[in-house]
Amino acid sequence: MIESWYAKLHQVKPKLTRLRLYSHDTLLGLVVVFDNPLTEEPQPSSRPMGQAQGFYASARLESLGLVMNMNFVFTNKIYNGSTLSILGRNAAMEAYCEMPIVGGSGIFWLTHGVAMATTHSFNATTSDVVVEYNIIAMHY
Ligand SMILES: *[C@@H]1O[C@H](CO)[C@@H](O)[C@H](O)[C@H]1NC(C)=O
Ligand SMILES: *[C@@H]1O[C@H](CO)[C@@H](O)[C@H](O)[C@H]1NC(C)=O
Repeated sequence: MIESWYAKLHQVKPKLTRLRLYSHDTLLGLVVVFDNPLTEEPQPSSRPMGQAQGFYASARLESLGLVMNMNFVFTNKIYNGSTLSILGRNAAMEAYCEMPIVGGSGIFWLTHGVAMATTHSFNATTSDVVVEYNIIAMHY
């Protein structure tokens, strides 16, 4: 997935889409705040890279669909001290979802990009989930 996107981005021209939509607000009841370790490999004991800090709220009436707002706060390698800000829809029950990277700091100044999330593993005993994020970030 990430290879085909990366190859495609070398060829694409920008497109302009204009939309007008109406949101009909109905309040729902779940907000979760998290501060999750980010590691280099799926094993929790692998090299720490930082923390995923943020919150998500259940925002879909019919099934589980989340609005997610989080920062990847890096603490290792050349990324140490830099952050990426991710804001988007997390279709929590689907195996794959894409969320916009809306900005960053440190080496990620003026970033925009995409975070592609896939469920790597799920422990039914503990409900612990390991989510793999593939990120494409354009920055200077
Ligand atoms: C990351 O940067 C902080 C602050 O400069 C420093 O204290 C820390 O040792 C660095 N961590 C790594 C793993 O380089
Ligand atoms: C799920 O978590 C429990 C408790 O940490 C652990 O004993 C078990 O091995 C885990 N299962 C899998 C499939 O990783």
